[in-house]
Amino acid sequence: MSDVIAMLKAAAMDEHAAIIQYLRHAYSMGEGEEACEIEGIAREEMRHFWMLSRWIVRLGGSPTIERGLVDLAGETLGDWMERDVQAEDRAIHMYRDMLAKIENPDLRADIERILADELVHRGDFEGMAEELAGELPEEADADEAPAPQDVESLGWGVRHEYAAILQYLFHSFLIQDEEVSRQLELQAINEMQHMGWLGEELTESGQDMPLEHHEVNLSQEPQDMLQADIQLEHDTAAMYGQFMERMADPEFKELLEQIRGHELYHEGLFERLLERLVS
Ligand SMILES: [Fe+2]
Ligand SMILES: [Fe+2]
Ligand SMILES: [Fe+2]
Ligand SMILES: [Fe+2]
Repeated sequence: MSDVIAMLKAAAMDEHAAIIQYLRHAYSMGEGEEACEIEGIAREEMRHFWMLSRWIVRLGGSPTIERGLVDLAGETLGDWMERDVQAEDRAIHMYRDMLAKIENPDLRADIERILADELVHRGDFEGMAEELAGELPEEADADEAPAPQDVESLGWGVRHEYAAILQYLFHSFLIQDEEVSRQLELQAINEMQHMGWLGEELTESGQDMPLEHHEVNLSQEPQDMLQADIQLEHDTAAMYGQFMERMADPEFKELLEQIRGHELYHEGLFERLLERLVS
């Protein structure tokens, strides 16, 4: 059994890495059909990450937020897509290998579903690699370099949103209450959107999107988790409010205001979920 858990953990780390690799590629491309398609694939990798981690918990292991290899090599958009094809190839190989070793029919069904997705992703990335061969990412406008406090705020936001994604996913892996777990997963997807909006703004202004995250609360008890989640939202809304006061670019400010509105909603939602758990 522990062999299976070890395999699932290795797979979860690679799914986590794929989410970040693909999102970084999508955000660095700017708006467009391909970027949307890649973001859609990243959301499916998040679903895989979730499925694998729920299995780890079901089999008595502890889920992990460690990350596998993120491959950001390459100069052109076509090169990036080639790297994504390679990531899918590694995943396909790994899942085939797992299927040769796993007997549990329910787990096999889930792995087969994931493998089928990876085969589709591989084809999608291969197609995009052809379309985007030789294309360079858009150069940022040097005249419109953002103010240092704006770069700092956006970077803080990306690292925060990344931590929030991991924290809510981790908590959703462990919480048995289906509704609470589902809500946490949905809000993690919402935080991923926030990370995208902030990351895109950074990239458009010629900055790299940070790849590291703030500290993640890894509580194991449902009530502790929700309390930590409420606190995180509360502190973040306050921080975004402070950033808004000193940001230079009105568009960035507007964006932060919109995100801050979501965070306040999350805070209220998590309070209601906590009440549901204690009643
Ligand atoms: Fe995947
Ligand atoms: Fe994939
Ligand atoms: Fe957020
Ligand atoms: Fe939030």
